[in-house]
Amino acid sequence: MTSSIDRTTTVANQESDATFDLKAYLKQQQVQVEAALDQSIAVIYPEKIYEAMRYSLMAGGKRLRPILCLASCELMGGTAEMAMPTACAMEMIHTMSLIHDDLPAMDNDDYRRGKLTNHKVYGEDVAILAGDGLLAYAFEFIAAQTRQVPPERVLQVIAKLGRAVGAAGLVGGQIVDLDCEGKSNVSLETLNFIHRHKTGALLEASVLCGAILAGADEADLQRLSRYAQNIGLAFQIIDDVLDITATQEELGKTAGKDLQAQKVTYPSIWGIEESKRQADQLIAEAKAELAPFGAAGQPLMALADYITARKN
Ligand code: IPE
Ligand code: IPE
Ligand code: MG
Ligand code: MG
Ligand code: MG
Repeated sequence: MTSSIDRTTTVANQESDATFDLKAYLKQQQVQVEAALDQSIAVIYPEKIYEAMRYSLMAGGKRLRPILCLASCELMGGTAEMAMPTACAMEMIHTMSLIHDDLPAMDNDDYRRGKLTNHKVYGEDVAILAGDGLLAYAFEFIAAQTRQVPPERVLQVIAKLGRAVGAAGLVGGQIVDLDCEGKSNVSLETLNFIHRHKTGALLEASVLCGAILAGADEADLQRLSRYAQNIGLAFQIIDDVLDITATQEELGKTAGKDLQAQKVTYPSIWGIEESKRQADQLIAEAKAELAPFGAAGQPLMALADYITARKN
């Protein structure tokens, strides 16, 4: 059984390498997402809050969550149009999490996406509200803007996303992350909990919500869930590696912060090389899940490779 999956994966990988231009794909998807995000929020009265929301939302970033959402919707036979409001909502929620993560009460960071952090520009009071505004608007945006999708699927997406961002997901991961700062005896189990919740939950939701909008069946959702959990954990491992190995210019955020804040990370437990090896292993497992989709799985295959190949 293993050998047949291995064989299919290798074939799919070869196809992906030969015919799929990840760079061009990312560029094209980023352009679409940027345009949709730009149109999603207008600056009206009270201007200050909309400006602060747009400042961080439009500051760049890889747009990985929206791109995953669009790719999984298309893989399951849906269209980009069906998934775009949800894709934008993923980025609004992610941006909220970055604004709040950077606050002095949390990681206390001055730079994000190559610019000053939200609270550095607008003050902490406005930054908290800008995050709240983005979080609430994300759900309104899905409910009000989704077209050509049966309402039961939209409800399912809203429920899944609420769970992914709340105490059962991102918020739960962030609180354990903060709790473990400065502790030297954090178990691998706790570290995995942190990563799977603070980062993995929203990445998984991005993949699954795209598939749900397209009407994917339970078996495909479970397969995509395993794919997404593996890339989610790998994503945070590489974030922690890059915090040590990359420069501020490359990252667009201050390097070396995890060590300074005494965060528990994979590299702090295993070192850089072993952490990279673990991430590579998770990416290989993620890609193996896509084997049954054949050539249609190429975008998600290539996006998985991008998680470990990226420089920021
Ligand atoms: C950074 O996320 C925060 C983590 C979850 C590790 P990204 O690395 O996706 O940040 P942007 O969106 O590209 O700025
Ligand atoms: C980020 O983890 C997780 C969330 C923002 C939810 P980090 O604190 O490691 O992210 P960066 O390194 O500041 O982007
Ligand atoms: Mg943090
Ligand atoms: Mg941080
Ligand atoms: Mg980090």
